[in-house]
Amino acid sequence: MRLTYTSDLWWKNAVVYCLDVETYKDGNGDGIGDFRGLTQQIDYLAGLGVTCLWLMPFYPTPNKDDGYDITDFYAIDPRLGTLGDFVEFMRTAHDRGLRVIADLVVNHTSDQHPWFKEARRSKDSPRRDWYVWSDKKEPDDPGQVVFPDKENSIWQYDRGSGQYYLHSFYRHQPDLNVANPEVRDEIARILGFWMELGLSGFRVDAVPFLIENVEPKLADPHDFLADLRAFMTRRQGDSVLLGEVNVPYKELMGYFGDGLGDQVTMCFDFIGMQRAWLSLARGEAEPLASALKERPRPPKDCQWATFLRNHDELTLDKLTDEERQEIFQAFGPEEDMQIFGRGLRRRLPPMLGGDLRRIKMAYSLLFSLPGTPVLFYGEEIGMGENLAAEGRMAVRTPMQWSSEGGFSMHEPVRKMPDGPFGPERVNVADQKRQQDSLLRWIQLLIERYRECPELAWGTHTVIDSGSPQVLAHRCDADGASVVVLHNLGRTTEEVELKLDGLANYQLTDLLVDGTTEVSDKGAVRLPLGPHGCRWLRASPPEVAPEDASVKSDSSFTHPRRS
Ligand code: NOJ
Ligand code: CA
Repeated sequence: MRLTYTSDLWWKNAVVYCLDVETYKDGNGDGIGDFRGLTQQIDYLAGLGVTCLWLMPFYPTPNKDDGYDITDFYAIDPRLGTLGDFVEFMRTAHDRGLRVIADLVVNHTSDQHPWFKEARRSKDSPRRDWYVWSDKKEPDDPGQVVFPDKENSIWQYDRGSGQYYLHSFYRHQPDLNVANPEVRDEIARILGFWMELGLSGFRVDAVPFLIENVEPKLADPHDFLADLRAFMTRRQGDSVLLGEVNVPYKELMGYFGDGLGDQVTMCFDFIGMQRAWLSLARGEAEPLASALKERPRPPKDCQWATFLRNHDELTLDKLTDEERQEIFQAFGPEEDMQIFGRGLRRRLPPMLGGDLRRIKMAYSLLFSLPGTPVLFYGEEIGMGENLAAEGRMAVRTPMQWSSEGGFSMHEPVRKMPDGPFGPERVNVADQKRQQDSLLRWIQLLIERYRECPELAWGTHTVIDSGSPQVLAHRCDADGASVVVLHNLGRTTEEVELKLDGLANYQLTDLLVDGTTEVSDKGAVRLPLGPHGCRWLRASPPEVAPEDASVKSDSSFTHPRRS
């Protein structure tokens, strides 16, 4: 496959790394992470092999929702640094070949944003229509309340001006009204501003909320997304929108712009993620295999973003009640581990009981799934959560750089966890020295993922492995194939695969030494240890076994528009 395609459409096999400047590294010793600290860690990130950083909100904020409540879209939270520090960070990231995207949170502002303060002054305020108002309290559908621990309605009475305003999230986050052309212009201006400062795109917060519930109703709310994307493309052809769109697959295709692919460039695969957790809980391939089969192919040049954990709760909202309970039982049986009645406020390693073999298999699975993998900082070393922290903050603890913590010269404002997942046992410095550490494993997976663009670009097929606990799939692009196996179970398995079109091919193991031959009937038997995983590159019989890095350079046929 020709690698030049992967530079134009860089996002299709990027490795995205999400971090919060506030919790990554403190550069000035006040216990809060900042841009100067982050900039000092750029070589660590480049060495890890990630290709794109996603910065969580770094804008001025009263911080009632960890920065997702913004008071100025054109500035830097002074606790994290200055615009000067930001630009130096961008310069250094770009020098190391890293792209940077940032959270774009424009469904709402903070209620302390000057726009909202002006809007609520009176019904006649020129900014009034920047938000969504109603004379009467609209009937509440409990299903619409995103944070049921704190809210029981999405409408809040504003005593001063005598109307209710809409807030899809907390009451201190009034929804902006994108039906208003001035608001839409301002949003484009925000995008343009940060793109001029070097961003390659945005992770768009709460996309379905952004385009719904506006007044007056937009004829087609998706036109707004298409307009925004067109604006970005005019300014910078290879910029991307990575959408937080947690809706069923069928509905989701509309956010890609259906067949046109002219709206959100990448969407997180929330369904696949939840089914992956069901597979992990059951030790069975079927839930994830069925998601992969159901998952529609994104339009040309669009991509799925795959992930196992993020900065929010592990949401299980798209599973049945019984399935959710199965996962709660397996990975978060205590009430304190659960949140909002739909998720878990935990990180992956403690959920998997700290079993390194199983943890490594879970990440191997993530990197082999068709799509663009997204890591949440600290996943690469297996950080755990701090359940003593409030709500979702449990998974947003400072990065563990060394056995002493290494995050700050002083006491971090946010606390790290104690015990088996605390910095003494889980940290970057130690894992750099250990060849069999999770950090080294993730580094290897990233290297192999980048060397196998078929995984992200190709057509993928789930293969019948004959074993309920083994997920087998293959990705084919332009005559090159990678076959991948994951044993979700605790016992050794030997599977027999039928590999169409690969009779007599050699399969070279990309994670450990070894080659296997496919029979002249196209069959192969492959053993897998408990929680074992194998990535196998297929090479034609007349060619010497290929090293992982050797690939054909014949031109890649783009999938047709459907
Ligand atoms: C989604 C973000 O991921 C979450 O952290 C935040 O609380 C809500 N949007 C509201 O902005
Ligand atoms: Ca600081």
